[in-house]
Amino acid sequence: MKDEQGKIFDQSNRPLRDLRISVTDRCNFRCRYCMPEEVFGPDYRFLPHTQLLSFEEIERLTRLFVELGVRKIRITGGEPLLRRDLPVLIRMLRSIEGVEDIAMTTNGSLLDKHAESLKEAGLDRLTVSLDSLDDERFGRMNGRGIKVATVLKGIEAAAKAGFSVKINMVVQKGVNDQDILPMASHFRGTGHIVRFIEFMDVGNSNGWKLEQVVPSKEVVRMINEEMPLEPVDPNYYGEVASRYRYQGTDEEIGLISSVTQAFCSTCTRARLSAEGELYTCLFASQAYDLRKPLRGGASDEEMLEIIQSIWNKRNDRYSEIRLQNTTGLKRNKVEMYHIGG
Ligand code: GTP
Ligand code: 5AD
Ligand code: SF4
Ligand code: SF4
Repeated sequence: MKDEQGKIFDQSNRPLRDLRISVTDRCNFRCRYCMPEEVFGPDYRFLPHTQLLSFEEIERLTRLFVELGVRKIRITGGEPLLRRDLPVLIRMLRSIEGVEDIAMTTNGSLLDKHAESLKEAGLDRLTVSLDSLDDERFGRMNGRGIKVATVLKGIEAAAKAGFSVKINMVVQKGVNDQDILPMASHFRGTGHIVRFIEFMDVGNSNGWKLEQVVPSKEVVRMINEEMPLEPVDPNYYGEVASRYRYQGTDEEIGLISSVTQAFCSTCTRARLSAEGELYTCLFASQAYDLRKPLRGGASDEEMLEIIQSIWNKRNDRYSEIRLQNTTGLKRNKVEMYHIGG
């Protein structure tokens, strides 16, 4: 399944359009919903450097993915800013013809230091994770007592460097649902778009339960009561977040409802782990090793064929299936820090 322009399609006729590249599995946070300290303690062994794809390998793979239809790149981790010289990689990716957008998801703690060089290197957009404006709750959620001010400083530095910034807040009932309204009002009028994310059952160690999910509808109802909202049309086909704006303004929020309103039917995302495995779903239990053929001397044509045959076989739709099975599906899933969300 390949069309005249060389674009490839999966079993549900979904094209390959986005590539999310994890550049490290390390993180300086230990968010309870992602890398709980009990599991990822001081003895936890992250990937040794030799196993990580080099910048040259990432560039080559990206070039090949672009040939197959990818237009959007997102850099993730772990925490991507822990990878040394990241702006060098951004510059390399920026020079690939056909790449329309390069974004990055970060926890924001190191942004103050790096925002400007990332902008200079050609990064287009930034998404910063922030789950609460309350130091105690945020410190508990990030597992390392990191202060809200550290992240806010990073966001400010990013805005100053000229980035448009989105803020990701994972909402967990009984943990930070009291922060929904404060987050909405704090960022209203700043130009930063807060996106409220339903807590998901990614990985195998975050103890997910449906009862801990605050449905997006509920979030909209809460905010709308205080600050009236109206829906906005999607920016592009398959946009993950549904958009709302405060009535009569162009100030927006987003809702990411993977649990209550699955969006698998338009999912065009491939994920590459830091060690060069390809995942075709955030909840995948199977990975395809691209590093082996890459380091084994495969030609571009051979690599293209490998990637195309993986995508052509793809039939993932985990969130849709979970809609019918609300305890989550019992399978061994890839961990979030391994592919960065
Ligand atoms: P833009 O629209 O390009 O700004 O990006 P985005 O909305 O994809 O942003 P981001 O990468 O920050 O995604 C936000 C969150 O949505 C992620 O951290 C995940 O928690 C969730 N998410 C993104 N893609 C998927 C997906 O394919 N499946 C599921 N279930 N969740 C996703
Ligand atoms: N459910 C929803 N979102 C999550 N993220 C990490 N783990 C989860 C989860 N279990 C979010 C992070 C970050 C992005 C990479 O994914 O907060 O914004
Ligand atoms: Fe690190 Fe992001 Fe996972 Fe938190 S969610 S532990 S910041 S990778
Ligand atoms: Fe895509 Fe899998 Fe997420 Fe569905 S659950 S939207 S197939 S990544």
